[in-house]
Amino acid sequence: MMMMQRFVGGFVVAVAVAVLVVAGSGSVAVAVEGENASAIRPTVLWHGMGDTCCLPFSMGAVKKEIEKHLPDIYVYSIMLGKNEIEDEFEGFFGNVNTQVDNICTKLKSDPNLKNGFNAVGFSQGGQFLRAYVQRCNDPPVHNLVTLGGQHMGVTDIPHCTATNATLCQLMAEALSVGAYVDGIRNYSVQAQYFRSAFEYKKYLEKNIFLADLNNERATKNATYKQNLASLNRFVLIEFSEDTMVVPRESSQFGYFKEGAMKEIVPMRQQPIYTEDWIGLQQLDKDNRIVEKKCPGDHLQFTMKYFLDNVISPFLNNTVTTTTTTTI
Ligand SMILES: *[C@@H]1O[C@H](CO)[C@@H](O)[C@H](O)[C@H]1NC(C)=O
Ligand SMILES: *[C@@H]1O[C@H](CO)[C@@H](O)[C@H](O)[C@H]1NC(C)=O
Ligand SMILES: *[C@@H]1O[C@H](CO)[C@@H](O)[C@H](O)[C@H]1NC(C)=O
Ligand SMILES: *[C@@H]1O[C@H](CO)[C@@H](O)[C@H](O)[C@H]1NC(C)=O
Ligand SMILES: *[C@@H]1O[C@H](CO)[C@@H](O)[C@H](O)[C@H]1NC(C)=O
Repeated sequence: MMMMQRFVGGFVVAVAVAVLVVAGSGSVAVAVEGENASAIRPTVLWHGMGDTCCLPFSMGAVKKEIEKHLPDIYVYSIMLGKNEIEDEFEGFFGNVNTQVDNICTKLKSDPNLKNGFNAVGFSQGGQFLRAYVQRCNDPPVHNLVTLGGQHMGVTDIPHCTATNATLCQLMAEALSVGAYVDGIRNYSVQAQYFRSAFEYKKYLEKNIFLADLNNERATKNATYKQNLASLNRFVLIEFSEDTMVVPRESSQFGYFKEGAMKEIVPMRQQPIYTEDWIGLQQLDKDNRIVEKKCPGDHLQFTMKYFLDNVISPFLNNTVTTTTTTTI
């Protein structure tokens, strides 16, 4: 194996000439030249509920902002279904497990992503990208950033407690019946990350997505932990005035103590962390969890905030690409 290095346009490029022996043939059969180069790592976006891959004032604008600051980057904004209408619909209706499976297939088949990517999830797109990492991660995610995600679920509907906490509590109790009813739980996306503050047992028994993803049941999936723990950084952005995500601490793996919508048990006191069901503790010990509080209500960030807190620190990194030629 011969190796040399040269500088091209500021990037280190290594050229290797390797000789492969085809097993069983007994003779040298193929010579492969591999060239490693540095390229900006691609970014994948997953939008939130009520949004689509490409609306010009939301994901479209975010994509443009990333491209403006990181020239030559490949940005892929996830679309569920076959068009933007289906995309928005699937944000409300469908089986999230199937949706994540489909996205695994789509991302794997995109040659631009084959060396891995950074991922940014908005609102429910945050826990769905985490599902991609835990269940598939092929190609692998380097930095995972979630903004206003519902990692521990929600126990309330949007903007409810801001209007009337008493009525919202009643509504949450009612929803705790509905979200686990067969006809609802498989077809309402939100039911699949709904977690009552009052009926944890029922959630464990009936929820078809989040309870599995969080490895909350007796049998743990070791792959989930291994994959999540392989992240370079896991960035959890909570909106300090979020009235959409209840409790807003769910964006950083905090949740209500069971029995009331009052006291919050923070991530580091949750069994998912203390018993390390999905690798959070492992990441944290290596300082690979980054917690940020963005001032404002749900997803109310400025492009300046996004540049300083997401693009520059977590999306501006390179990946090694290898080109191979048979000679
Ligand atoms: C090229 O990159 C691959 C994968 O990262 C690595 O295994 C290989 O050693 C690299 N080759 C050179 C010449 O740096
Ligand atoms: C664990 O998760 C992986 C990745 O999704 C899956 O392939 C495997 O079947 C799961 N194992 C169990 C025991 O469910
Ligand atoms: C909430 O609604 C209940 C029932 O209508 C009412 O009694 C209570 O005053 C309301 N609370 C607030 C803070 O508006
Ligand atoms: C509901 O979803 C679960 C998990 O994805 C699946 O096992 C079950 O068969 C589904 N039930 C119906 C009625 O579609
Ligand atoms: C990205 O990194 C390069 C190299 O370190 C730096 O010159 C550039 O200013 C950075 N761009 C942004 C948007 O952070």
